[in-house]
Amino acid sequence: MIKLDNLVNKDFLSSSDLSTQEIKYILELAENFKNKDLNFLNSNKVLGLIFDKSSTRTRVSFQVAMSRLGGTTIDLNPSTSQIGRGEPIKDTARVLSSYCDVIAVRTFNHSDLEEYAKWSTKPVINALTDLEHPCQALADFLTIKEEFHDFKKVVLTFIGDGNNVANSLILCGALLGIEVRIACPKGYEPNSSIVKKAYEIYQNENLLKITDDISSAISGANVLYTDVWSSMGEENKKKEKDKDFKGFTIDSKLVSQAKSDAIILHCLPAYRSKEITDEVIECEKSRIFEQAENRLHVQQALLSTILS
Ligand code: CP
Ligand code: NVA
Repeated sequence: MIKLDNLVNKDFLSSSDLSTQEIKYILELAENFKNKDLNFLNSNKVLGLIFDKSSTRTRVSFQVAMSRLGGTTIDLNPSTSQIGRGEPIKDTARVLSSYCDVIAVRTFNHSDLEEYAKWSTKPVINALTDLEHPCQALADFLTIKEEFHDFKKVVLTFIGDGNNVANSLILCGALLGIEVRIACPKGYEPNSSIVKKAYEIYQNENLLKITDDISSAISGANVLYTDVWSSMGEENKKKEKDKDFKGFTIDSKLVSQAKSDAIILHCLPAYRSKEITDEVIECEKSRIFEQAENRLHVQQALLSTILS
């Protein structure tokens, strides 16, 4: 594969920071990391991990990816660093970027991530904000690619909250030209500026649909995807959202309405029996644990590209 140099030392804050060609490059590189013995070494490079929210998959896949590349990570826990004390982001970003080669940030406001990127002298990666989860979307599309090989045949239906995960799927799907349908209760639609950007990217505006009609969204779909109804930071909305999302659980009945080759995805962590049943997570159509594994391969591809 031809090496792409334009991502070297670049921030990755949004799925739309990548071009179609760059997404395809990272997915191919990730497949090679997964299936071949690639020898990319970023020896002595250091990734700083600033996580204002909990994480299992993102944190550990970044740590293992960096270690496989010959580098290391530093876990910058807000409660044991001065971040938790409220040191301004512009100070933290300048200092940490003088020690680290790349920084991954998981936080609440997307504008805080942008503030890190503005002041950091090294690339900043979005490890999830309230607006987007672009590293997750790369792993999701790698999982879809492994299953269907050709994106043209894919109809991806996301059932649930129009949240960070849905927003990044929409943008990445638009860049790859995939039909994306979002089925959500009224009032829980994806971010309007993301939707606007996706329509600008798509050459065909029929490829993105947002509806509260689950049946029409599922008919003909070959990827069914869901995420928690209440994201991190929305703990106080749980009761209300559980009520509003009634009927949006992916169960066997819903799965049977999709195409016969349909696969099931969930970024995890899941609340079994809320957004998805235990039976569907464990069924033979589920690719949820392959999808989680792919976080590692994509992270390795992304880091090796940014750091080369
Ligand atoms: N999917 C995902 O980002 O999981 P974590 O919150 O465990 O990182
Ligand atoms: N939407 C979820 C994703 C978790 C990986 C959240 O933000 O909590």
